[in-house]
Amino acid sequence: MAIQLQMAAQDLHFQTFRNENAKSKEERDALLVDPGFGKVFTDHMVDICWSDKGGWHRPRVQPYGPISMDPAAAVLHYSQEVFEGLKAYRHADGSVWSFRPEANAYRMQRSARRLALPELPVEYFLESIKQLVRNDIDWVPESGEQSLYLRPFMFAKEAFLGVRPANKVNYYVIASPAGAYFPGGVAPVSIWLSTDYARAGKGGTGAAKTGGNYASSLVAQQEAYENGCAQVLFLDSEEGLYLEELGGMNVVLVHKDGTLITPESSSILEGITLDSILHLARDRGLATEMRRVSIHEWRDEAASGNITEAFACGTAAVVAPIAQLKAANFTIGDADAPAGELTMSLRQELLDIQYGRLPDPHGWMTRLDA
Ligand code: PLP
Ligand code: COI
Repeated sequence: MAIQLQMAAQDLHFQTFRNENAKSKEERDALLVDPGFGKVFTDHMVDICWSDKGGWHRPRVQPYGPISMDPAAAVLHYSQEVFEGLKAYRHADGSVWSFRPEANAYRMQRSARRLALPELPVEYFLESIKQLVRNDIDWVPESGEQSLYLRPFMFAKEAFLGVRPANKVNYYVIASPAGAYFPGGVAPVSIWLSTDYARAGKGGTGAAKTGGNYASSLVAQQEAYENGCAQVLFLDSEEGLYLEELGGMNVVLVHKDGTLITPESSSILEGITLDSILHLARDRGLATEMRRVSIHEWRDEAASGNITEAFACGTAAVVAPIAQLKAANFTIGDADAPAGELTMSLRQELLDIQYGRLPDPHGWMTRLDA
């Protein structure tokens, strides 16, 4: 079986069904002026089927549009689903690139294993984003820090209400031109510390990129908005003491000597942005620490002036400086705090690599349009 699937991956041939109702240049240009995040979608999508008997089959690019499924489709009841998020960047010469897409492909395989979903071969994943980007190339923005956000996802489509891994699954990729994730751009954000809710627990699905983790973050996110904060920070579920991550980003503290400190936990999503930022920091000779970090450590070390900066990082928002952390009964930092210097310089270096303005010493960029 494994050998058969491997061969199928090498023979990968996408059928393309062009969208006859694709947006005109004028309509597209109007949408690209200020796309925000996750609101505007391109003309096409990728769709690949999987069944337990036939493996991965019928790869196609087709017009973007509603997915029809049986009301008994397992995902609607038991949330057997995983997704990814990565971007396509247009360089000054017009070429289009993505950043470490194979890392997203491997992470999607790890997520799929945890959710008892089939693993999409890495070459299928890479080919799927290339196919979509080539068909929707005019949607890759040319201006500023805009990009085309790519959202691969996979879910249980089998119509069956028994609780077991589905034997029919579909993988899709959609694309969405994107500007800044936060309405305020790169302005430092306030973060709410959730003490009533946990995002994930030991042995749970926290390290997988699956919809349920985000669903479980929403009441805490609502609490964050009510307290004037843009995002929520979760603590570990057992002791409620150690930093985990934000609803959709990893968190990093910066020591005054330039050391970057980020939480270690089995229930955190392994961020590709985080890993890349830590690489760039080490390239500069800075130390990095991945270890348990308690909320008391952050509070005490910020008060004594040892922790001087904090930031959140992820594909959608890149690097977001944290101005303050607000909790029910204490606050670290203040809302008007300026962005940290090291935070902003690492952010700039990462963006410069992604947009082709700096050399790519680690071979992180993959060309999508040729
Ligand atoms: N943590 C969570 C919960 C996320 O949703 C994301 C975003 O994808 C990240 C961390 C950062 O991951 P990456 O840098 O790979 O986008
Ligand atoms: C990303 O940064 O790609 C994310 O997935 C975060 C959020 C939009 C879910």
